[in-house]
Amino acid sequence: MLKKDFQNKVCIITGAARGIGEAIARLFHQRGAKLALIDMDKDGLKKLSEELSGSKIYIGDLTQQEFVDTAIAQITKDLGPVSVLVNNAGITKDNLIGNITNQDWDRVMEVNLKAPFMLCRAVFPTMKEHKYGKIVNLISASWLGNIGQGNYSASKAGLVGLTRTMAQEFAKFNVNVNGVSPGLVDTPMIKSIPDNVKEKLINARPLKRIGKPEEIAEAVAFLASDRAAYITGQILHVDGGKSVGA
Ligand SMILES: NC(=O)c1ccc[n+]([C@@H]2O[C@H](COP(=O)([O-])OP(=O)(O)OC[C@H]3O[C@@H](n4cnc5c(N)ncnc54)[C@H](O)[C@@H]3O)[C@@H](O)[C@H]2O)c1
Repeated sequence: MLKKDFQNKVCIITGAARGIGEAIARLFHQRGAKLALIDMDKDGLKKLSEELSGSKIYIGDLTQQEFVDTAIAQITKDLGPVSVLVNNAGITKDNLIGNITNQDWDRVMEVNLKAPFMLCRAVFPTMKEHKYGKIVNLISASWLGNIGQGNYSASKAGLVGLTRTMAQEFAKFNVNVNGVSPGLVDTPMIKSIPDNVKEKLINARPLKRIGKPEEIAEAVAFLASDRAAYITGQILHVDGGKSVGA
């Protein structure tokens, strides 16, 4: 049953070249998806795609409207109408508020918030036409606020607002929109966090460990499947329990 979740469904995964996106791509592949993998990391994407038979890759910067339009048109031509969109690509440019440059603010907003918006806007007409669609956006526990991540936190909180709004606007066309909010996950994104800070972060969560990309992928796969057909506008926290408690 699980294996067939994405059989013959065209599924787009952004930021698929490594980390959480790669884990999502591997899991969706196991479950039969016709995969469209997008990233700006050409080498990482090519390597993954060689392993995942039948997957297609689209290389470019998702903040560029022209690339988004070209990629969606090409995916539709190569694989067929899009059923599932996972907005996973994201970046951090951490600093205390006083030290965040306008440039770093803009880039984080463009990658984490504007690109998902442009992608959703681009795939929605097809989903509407076919009366079927699943969109899952990768949020972050930081959307609740986090020292040193003013730009990142604001971008992810914005993405929560967008997720909840799209859920309401798209529901009548049988398009579900949800978010998965990971805590600390073992990917290249967190490599720059010093060990002593990581230790503190680990201790702050009830499960006392860092999450694995595969554990995030499971939550994304559930929300992107028909098993979650009656769930929309929700944010599922996959964070070792960090977001609960007083
Ligand atoms: N790792 C964590 O602890 C953690 C925690 C919470 C949320 N997240 C979120 O999960 C998602 C994936 O995180 P990750 O840890 O796997 O990150 P990562 O840095 O390991 O991978 C991100 C991928 O996105 C791609 N990417 C970035 N900007 C792009 C752009 N403009 N166009 C195309 N591709 C682009 C990168 O090339 C990279 O392959 C992100 O949205 C992130 O904010 C991660």
